[in-house]
Amino acid sequence: MSQLTEKDSVQMLGLKLPTDPRWVNLAEMSLEDILTDHAYCEQKAATSCITLIQKNPERERMVRELAPIVTEEWGHFRQVLAELDKRGLKLGMQRKDEYVNKLLAFQKKGGKAEERFIDRLLINALIEARSCERFRLLSLHLEDDNLKEFYHKFMVSEAGHYRLFLDLAKGYGGEEKTMARWQEFLDYEAEILQGIEVRGDRMH
Ligand SMILES: [Fe+2]
Ligand SMILES: [Fe+2]
Repeated sequence: MSQLTEKDSVQMLGLKLPTDPRWVNLAEMSLEDILTDHAYCEQKAATSCITLIQKNPERERMVRELAPIVTEEWGHFRQVLAELDKRGLKLGMQRKDEYVNKLLAFQKKGGKAEERFIDRLLINALIEARSCERFRLLSLHLEDDNLKEFYHKFMVSEAGHYRLFLDLAKGYGGEEKTMARWQEFLDYEAEILQGIEVRGDRMH
């Protein structure tokens, strides 16, 4: 992906809005905070897969495919923790995640459980896609070569998760209906980003 322009990569992920270019510089200036925030993003990714499995044991394909992702996301958490240690930095407290909370607010309330389930998969796909886009920016524009490489690996991994969640949603919800709902999520996500302050201490 590294040869692509910002616009190409955003389009490939389906996202409607590229990240504000000031974000990488801000993130670089607050490494302890951004790594802390990143660590909790990985923890939440693992937790979210566990919750999906707990709540939907009858969805065998999903359980089978998400079980190894739990391990992978927790492995990511440990890698970020090791990176903090290596730099003599500390894991801070978890912050309120405005971005994720706003995405969750878009999930269908009431109605069919099936639709809420598909929404949940799409929210996960969207968080993976945006994380992938941001990891790509870090992998390209940070000063530190080790961190660039570190974030390149995360970018590749989260791109795979984005595709997996979108495939699962299409598999359970049907291609046409799911893609129509996906477009609604993409538009909504662009609105969220426009309304959130650009800060270097958070991944989203
Ligand atoms: Fe991850
Ligand atoms: Fe992921």
